[in-house]
Amino acid sequence: MLDIVVPDEVRANWQARTDGIVRYGEPVLRAKAQPVGRPGRETRELVDRMKATMLASNGIGLAAPQVGVLLRVIVYRGAEDDAPIRSLINPRIVSAKGEQTGEEGCLSIPLLHGEVTRPNAIIVKALDLLGRPVTVRADELESRVIQHEIDHLDGILYIDRANPSTLEWSEPADPDAKPEQEP
Ligand code: NI
Repeated sequence: MLDIVVPDEVRANWQARTDGIVRYGEPVLRAKAQPVGRPGRETRELVDRMKATMLASNGIGLAAPQVGVLLRVIVYRGAEDDAPIRSLINPRIVSAKGEQTGEEGCLSIPLLHGEVTRPNAIIVKALDLLGRPVTVRADELESRVIQHEIDHLDGILYIDRANPSTLEWSEPADPDAKPEQEP
């Protein structure tokens, strides 16, 4: 696990944000989330809250620990242009192939970016909101987002996997400005 120093002006910018997302430094982001026993009404309410939070922040993915809930639930935007937001319960990667390197950020660490190398194509098994088993195949950006979110469930942040020399803070701007497509 990589520890980073958050500059004062960045910390001030984070504190001015009102999106309800847990920020780097909160222990819940480093904890291991528990599997959902059987998805029910509470799971659907959690997913609805996560989708709304993600949309309000213009995000492309969000994991339950980022809203302070230690359950193995993620939401993400699909690859197609008008794809619905998808949710996965208890997701696990069962196959990973190839390699991709690209820039990542995180709604829990606003203003920081860095390059991360990850597998390119993955196969994920999970449950849907009705508790039925689903298999998801993804590559490129969609695969990157799913991997980033599943990492959150194990207390892993992209900074742990990033090439440290590429980690860079952007200039703090209007805290209400929408960040660009971050998981
Ligand atoms: Ni993230």
